[in-house]
Formats: sequence, structure tokens, C-alpha cells
Amino acid sequence: MKEKLITTQIQIATYEELTAEEKKLIDAAKNATKNSYAPYSKFNVGAAILLDNGEIITGNNQENAAYPSGLCAERVTMFYANSRYPNNAPKALAIASYANNNFLADPITPCGACRQSLLETEVRFKNNIKVYLYGTKHIYIIESIKALLPLSFDNSSLT
Ligand code: THU
Repeated sequence: MKEKLITTQIQIATYEELTAEEKKLIDAAKNATKNSYAPYSKFNVGAAILLDNGEIITGNNQENAAYPSGLCAERVTMFYANSRYPNNAPKALAIASYANNNFLADPITPCGACRQSLLETEVRFKNNIKVYLYGTKHIYIIESIKALLPLSFDNSSLT
């Protein structure tokens, strides 16, 4: 029997260590938490996507009284970016979350359904999307969505 090891490299940085462009994207994600509609969980998530034309698209989680009908910040934002800019590849994505009057100290990571949806965009544009997961204590930086979803299913399997 053979074995295969799949690893994910994560860079851990402080806000101060980032470039001005990276800080701007994270600030946009933090700011986007303010427009989150999360009356049920009271967990406000903001996302910001940098497109290859330099534009930053922001969004946040949108909940619903019928709980499963709500949508995470990552998908709200990516779907909007793709619908508004179908010809511009997303280059980077930042995520921040705010609860109990504070930004979270440790980064949160996208749920499984978001990872799959985000992967579609990465594959579609043949362009890695760099991910910044913001926490006040530290920021996780991951080179691509694919790295967040090992053994993923994508359209290369469809004939
Ligand atoms: N949520 C996001 O928007 N993104 C994540 O990465 C994790 C969770 C939302 C969904 C729901 O509105 C709330 O956070 C609590 O799960």
C-alpha cells in the first residue's frame, strides 16, 4: 500500500508585517462586517476581494429566519464579484469576523461549502486566489483556495 501526504502551508503574520495593499484589503473586510445582517448568530463576517483590475469588492454574511436560507460572507461577496465582473479574475480574498464587540483574536476559516464555491472561481479564471484570514492576534495567509480544500472536486473530472 502507498501513502500520500497532503500538506497546506500557512504563513502567519501580524498586521504590521503586511504591505499597504494587503492592509487595505484587510481593512475593507473589517469594515464590511459593519453591514453584516446576522440577527440570529450575532456573528458578523466581512469579506473583501481584490480583482485584477485593482477594484475591491466587499460583502458580508446575510442571515434568514429560515436559517439555511442565509449565506456566508465569502459566497455573498464572490458571487457578487463574479456577477458584476465576469471578466476580472479575483486575486485575493480577506475575511474578518466580529462578535461580542470585538474582532476575533484568532482567524476564522471559510466553511466547506464556501471553499467549494470559491474553488470554482479559482478554476474558472485559472488564477490562484490568495487568502488572508484576519485575527487581531495574527493573520493566516494561504496561497490558494485549492490549498484549503485538499482532494477537491472540480470540473476537470467532468467529461
Ligand atoms: N459565516 C460566514 O459568513 N463565514 C464563515 O467563514 C463562517 C460563518 C457566517 C454564517 C452565519 O451567518 C454566521 O457566520 C454564524 O455561523
